[in-house]
Amino acid sequence: MRPLLIAGNWKMHMLREEGQALVAGILAGAAQVPAERELLILPPFTLLVELGARVAGSRVDLGAQDLHWEESGAFTSGISGPMLRDAGCRYVLVGHSERREHFGDSGVVLWNKVRGALKAGLRPIYCLGENLDQREADRTADVLAAQFNEALPGLSREEMAQVTLAYEPVWAIGTGRTATPEIAQEAHRLLRRRLSEGFGEEVAARVRILYGGSVKSENAVGLLALPDIDGALVGGASLRVESFLGIATAGA
Ligand code: 13P
Repeated sequence: MRPLLIAGNWKMHMLREEGQALVAGILAGAAQVPAERELLILPPFTLLVELGARVAGSRVDLGAQDLHWEESGAFTSGISGPMLRDAGCRYVLVGHSERREHFGDSGVVLWNKVRGALKAGLRPIYCLGENLDQREADRTADVLAAQFNEALPGLSREEMAQVTLAYEPVWAIGTGRTATPEIAQEAHRLLRRRLSEGFGEEVAARVRILYGGSVKSENAVGLLALPDIDGALVGGASLRVESFLGIATAGA
């Protein structure tokens, strides 16, 4: 009912030639990936237009890593939802912990970005997750609830059904330290319950919840098999064809 989504967040990596080579490799190997799994790349803004043209009509979807919430206007450096649609994007990340930490994204900014994405016909992937201090203080459930409430209440059921969640514990990002399947499943179960309380059973059953944080092909098998994990948001391992496809085919 929820097809697995394997998404590669390229972060601030890849010049044009490298990006072209990575996409060529992914497209060449995509046939190994079971047909019911979906593939998504999230390159930096500079590569969206040319890679959008490259993946158009293929089974690889395109998304961006951030957006400005307004449609257009005097917002120097801003990239709007309609611009991302125009470049071929279907998805956009909102609230990645690196945006929260290094760019101060929070509160009304995230609220507006989710709505700006939906208004432009993009599917937001809303990221949330606790840091190490919060986990060690046993505050994970409260932190997830607060981050959920920062941007999602007030959406209609139809709007929420367009959103994907990504649980990315900050202590697992780029550290080589992945959440155990038990930790990940528990966090995803909490998020699913929150979806159900806020938007009803049907929406909760439809919304995908991705796991992110040091996903590799070796640990992907155990994670993707869990009932509430509907895919992976991959950073470092998405920058090489073999490791990205290794995750996309894990356990299949
Ligand atoms: P890593 O896979 O490099 O830990 O990054 C995860 C991430 O932040 C994806 O958005």
